Amino acid sequence: MNLKEMVGYKAAEFVKNGMTVGLGTGSTAYYMVEALGKRVKEEGLNIVGVTTSYETADHARDLDIPLKDIDEVEKIDLTIDGADEISSQYNGIKGGGAAHLFEKIVANLSDRNIWIVDETKLVEKLGAFPLPVEVIQFGSGQLFNLFKEKGYKPTWRNNKEGERLVTDAGNLIIDLNLGVIENPHELAKWLDSLTGVVEHGLFLDCVNTVIVGTSEGPIVEEVNR
Ligand code: A5P
Repeated sequence: MNLKEMVGYKAAEFVKNGMTVGLGTGSTAYYMVEALGKRVKEEGLNIVGVTTSYETADHARDLDIPLKDIDEVEKIDLTIDGADEISSQYNGIKGGGAAHLFEKIVANLSDRNIWIVDETKLVEKLGAFPLPVEVIQFGSGQLFNLFKEKGYKPTWRNNKEGERLVTDAGNLIIDLNLGVIENPHELAKWLDSLTGVVEHGLFLDCVNTVIVGTSEGPIVEEVNR
């Protein structure tokens, strides 16, 4: 069992009957969705899923996990998602799979957020992983230039065909190559203030539980909030 599979299956154990569950996106969340699909089929686990991307929605539907649209639910009991980096302060960068906008909307509506990662994603400070910034198409070149002037080494996110990637919400992604982010809250505040930025991949003060995959097995870390 690889580490992503290990944490995906471990996280699925936190899901209980009757829950509305936010289903994350990415290669780690994939296994959690797979594990939940098995529990639905084999144990008759009764849940409703709210998905964070069209990709996850397709996967969950294939496994007959009942789904509801985000606007049909009052709240979400638990969301399980991957992350690209988690700092020693339990802040994260997400969006390596271009889904951070929907992921943040779902996370913000959730009573509890669990992140599932392999141990390589744990860092002291965030920033080695490029920070995704989702921008509307109109005027996005101006934002790109602004980031360049700031020294943030922006790059456009491309799809497999080498064209600009368009997100599920119809926007573009600019990745910021920052190296290290000394003050994530300050950076998040600035990015939030920019017209045309829809959402960035800094997920601050958000996660409640981190499940880390190690060669010794999964480690469950509870975060004091
Ligand atoms: C999707 O946009 C992301 O936020 C993912 O949750 C994150 O990139 C982790 O993905 P992997 O599990 O594929 O590494």
